[in-house]
Amino acid sequence: MGTYLISITGASGAIYGLRTIQALIKGGHEVHAIVSPWGERVVHEETGQPFFAWIEALGLSGDRVYNPQDLAALPSSGSFALDGTVIVPCSMSSIGAVASGVSGNLIHRSALVSLKEGRPLILVPRETPLSLIDLRNLTSLAEAGATILPAAPAFYQKPQSIDDLVDFIAGKILSRLGLEHRLFEPWGSSPKGSQQ
Ligand SMILES: Cc1cc2nc3c(=O)[nH]c(=O)nc-3n(C[C@H](O)[C@H](O)[C@H](O)COP(=O)(O)O)c2cc1C
Repeated sequence: MGTYLISITGASGAIYGLRTIQALIKGGHEVHAIVSPWGERVVHEETGQPFFAWIEALGLSGDRVYNPQDLAALPSSGSFALDGTVIVPCSMSSIGAVASGVSGNLIHRSALVSLKEGRPLILVPRETPLSLIDLRNLTSLAEAGATILPAAPAFYQKPQSIDDLVDFIAGKILSRLGLEHRLFEPWGSSPKGSQQ
């Protein structure tokens, strides 16, 4: 089983981050988490529940949830061996900070540590349309080794609910981390998928 750091920033789509945490914990993995102040705000706006309520609901261990301002916490160091770091959803503000190499908070620092240590870093941006600045920042990050995994669910799976759309993105993240999951059926393996 692996050890993963999941950060939630203030982009829309907080549920993608929560579902990713849930799927990893369900899979028996050790999950550490950081939520930015705007991430907390969006979690509350979009789910109707504060993040601290989610900590309990998801079964996250409280001592693995870090204050984003605590640059002395474990994820600040390359010696904290992680199998993967994911920022989901990732605001364009955090994309800009990481692309510039500015570790103003623990989320940005942990992403930069992941890049310098050559470990998997997945960024899940959610913004539309994208400015040239956003596109350049995303390109810099891809060049530096990050995986850019936009929060863009597919419709060929014939989703029946918002849950299906959310599961698709969480499943894509797990797949990119090399983890097996049943969040969506592989193309062609289900009656729905094989109709096309
Ligand atoms: C309700 C709400 C929704 C937002 N949605 C987005 C979004 O989808 N994408 C984005 O880049 N920023 C979005 N923002 C703006 C970010 O929260 C803002 O840029 C903030 O500085 C991000 O900081 P953080 O990356 O430290 O969380 C949203 C803000 C609010 C209040």
